[in-house]
Amino acid sequence: MNILLLGKGGQVGWELQRALAPLGQVVAHDADTADFTQPDQVAALVRSVRPDVIVNAAAHTAVDKAESEPELARVINATTPGALAGAARELNALLVHYSTDYVFDGSGVVPRDESAATGPLSVYGQTKLEGEQLIAQSGCQHLIFRTSWVYAARGGNFARTMLRLAAERDMLSVIDDQVGAPTGADLLADVTAHTIRATRARPELAGLYHLVAAGETSWHDYARFVIEWARANGGVNGQAIKVAPDAIRPIATSAYPTPARRPLNSRLATGKLRVAFDLTLPHWQAGVHRMLTEISGK
Ligand SMILES: NC(=O)c1ccc[n+]([C@@H]2O[C@H](COP(=O)([O-])OP(=O)(O)OC[C@H]3O[C@@H](n4cnc5c(N)ncnc54)[C@H](OP(=O)(O)O)[C@@H]3O)[C@@H](O)[C@H]2O)c1
Repeated sequence: MNILLLGKGGQVGWELQRALAPLGQVVAHDADTADFTQPDQVAALVRSVRPDVIVNAAAHTAVDKAESEPELARVINATTPGALAGAARELNALLVHYSTDYVFDGSGVVPRDESAATGPLSVYGQTKLEGEQLIAQSGCQHLIFRTSWVYAARGGNFARTMLRLAAERDMLSVIDDQVGAPTGADLLADVTAHTIRATRARPELAGLYHLVAAGETSWHDYARFVIEWARANGGVNGQAIKVAPDAIRPIATSAYPTPARRPLNSRLATGKLRVAFDLTLPHWQAGVHRMLTEISGK
C-alpha cells in the first residue's frame, strides 16, 4: 500500500509517521514541500505520487488567530482538502481527514453523534466544516474523524501549558464550563491505521466518524488531574510544582474572553465508530497519564 501523509510535523502527523509505517510505503510531507496555501500544487503532488491512501493531518489549528485571517484558514482547512478530495477521486484513493467538535454550537449536555446538526461558532469551526463538506461532495472514498482536545507528548498543548504555569505561579484560573474528552494524537494515529486497513477490505465502512477518548472532563478538572499527577511525581523535568490543587480556581468561559467563541458542550458520541470497527476507546485519563509519564521521563 502506498500512503501519502501530509502535515507530518504536527501532533497527529508525527504519531501517524509511526502508526502508518507497518501498512506500507509512506511518503510524508510538511508545509515546506506541500504548502496548503497552494491547493493546485498539493493536488499536483498527489497526482505525481499516485498513492492508494492520502492521510491529511495538516490544518490551520490556531483557533483565535483564524478569526483575523479567515481566508488563510479557509484555504488550508477547506479549499486544499477539497482539492485533495478531487485528486483522490480521480485516482480512486482513500482520503483520511480530521475534523473537530468545533463544527457544533456546543449547546446542551448530551454527546452529539454524526447526524447532529452543525453550527460552528468560530472561523476555525466554519472552515473545518466546509472542508468536510467539500470532501463529502467530491464523491471520493473517505474517512473523516471529528475529534477534540488533542494532546501529544510532542508539541504545544493544554496539559504542557498547565504544567509550565503551575511551576511559575501560586494560583491558576481555569475554565470549568467547557466539557469534552482530551484525546491523544497517538490514539488518533493508531485508530487511523486500524480503520484504513478495515476500509480497504470493506469499502462500505468509509464515512464520517466521531473519534475521542472515553469519559469526559472540564478544562479545570483536566488541569487538576495533570497538576496532581505532577505533584505526586515530584514535578516535571526537574521543575517543582508551586500550585496546590485547591489553588486551581474554576472560572466561567464568560470570565475569559477570547477572539474565537468555543463550544461549551464538546461531548462527541463514538458508538458508530466503535461498532463499525469493533473498537474499544480507552478512558482519557489513561492516555493523559501515559503522556505525562513520557514527557517527565519517569
Ligand atoms: N489540536 C486540537 O485540539 C484538535 C482538536 C480537534 C481537531 N483537530 C484536528 O486534528 C488535526 C490534526 O491537528 P493537530 O493537533 O495535529 O494540529 P497541529 O499540531 O497544529 O498540526 C497541524 C499541522 O498542519 C501544518 N500546517 C499548517 N499550515 C500549513 C500549510 N500552509 N501547509 C501545510 N501544512 C500546514 C502545521 O505545520 P507547521 O507546524 O509547519 O505550521 C502542522 O504540522 C487537524 O485537522 C485539526 O483540525 C485538532
